[in-house]
Amino acid sequence: DWSTADFIKRKIQEIRDTVGKSRVLLGLSGGVDSSVAAALIHAAIGKQLTCVFVDNGLLRKGEREYVVSLYKRNFKIDLRVADSEALFLKKLKGVSEPEAKRKIIGNTFVKVFEDSLKSIAGRAEFLAQGTLYPDVIESVQIGNNPASLIKSHHNVGGLPERMKLKLLEPLRELFKDEVRAVGTALGLPKEVVWRQPFPGPGLGVRVLGDITAEKLNILREADFILQDEMMKSGLYWKVWQSFCVFLPVKSVGVIGDERNYAYVIAVRVVESIDAMTADWSRLPYDLLQTISNRITNEVRGVSRVVLDISSKPPATIEWE
Ligand code: XMP
Repeated sequence: DWSTADFIKRKIQEIRDTVGKSRVLLGLSGGVDSSVAAALIHAAIGKQLTCVFVDNGLLRKGEREYVVSLYKRNFKIDLRVADSEALFLKKLKGVSEPEAKRKIIGNTFVKVFEDSLKSIAGRAEFLAQGTLYPDVIESVQIGNNPASLIKSHHNVGGLPERMKLKLLEPLRELFKDEVRAVGTALGLPKEVVWRQPFPGPGLGVRVLGDITAEKLNILREADFILQDEMMKSGLYWKVWQSFCVFLPVKSVGVIGDERNYAYVIAVRVVESIDAMTADWSRLPYDLLQTISNRITNEVRGVSRVVLDISSKPPATIEWE
């Protein structure tokens, strides 16, 4: 018999008892889990919480501004932005293999986070994370078979030990729907609480192959249009994920009577329950038409839009 109000009350007390007078640091990604964790911990200890948002240059259009305006301006949370686009792009330069990119992004993230922690808080004792119950289960390695480790991306790997920080994970006993209820009760807007998942490596795994600022910008503009149309139709809330993928191939198009030799954007929209399997969404043709028209007309550098009609398995949701 689970009640949101009771949970919040109990956790606030628990967080206060655990933390005492020390400071807590939290890596805020803007996703559902870290957002709810931030709101809950802030409700418990206010200014003792410091959040760090890493701008890795692989974010969607307007994401950083949105996160800053919501948490810093509205919620009055102590939020620092680590401006590290240049560093990430430098490290990623010329790298095209997906797992190599993920590794670089993960390591650089830890480094940036560590640096910003050093510069802001001498007395920090706790590192907060929005770990949920399913993450706890999935992060358990079965026997000594590393392949059984499904994912560990919620942990800022190795950081707590290196920084001598204790972990604070107030959402550890919750499932996603319960986290959403907690977020709503704490006053987070629907746009945050019901947000689609977004991978940690961000647009870094949606620009196929090697990453450049130009490709990222093209992808950002195209993806912004897709999300805009998904929102307008209301379908954004009904699908599991909707996003664009930048394909590093050029195709011939025509603008007026000029040849337009430019990149291809793939539209990926899927339905899923838990991301383990997924089916491509049967979007209305008229909506697909609008999305395609807008992307080819409004985004310079794109001559063609294609639709991904692959299910998982055998495909995966992301292209990399
Ligand atoms: P795939 O592509 O494996 O994705 O079908 C399943 C779900 O996981 C997300 N995803 C990631 N999330 N780091 C993350 O935090 C990653 O490296 C990563 N790769 C995929 C993906 O968006 C989908 O929701």
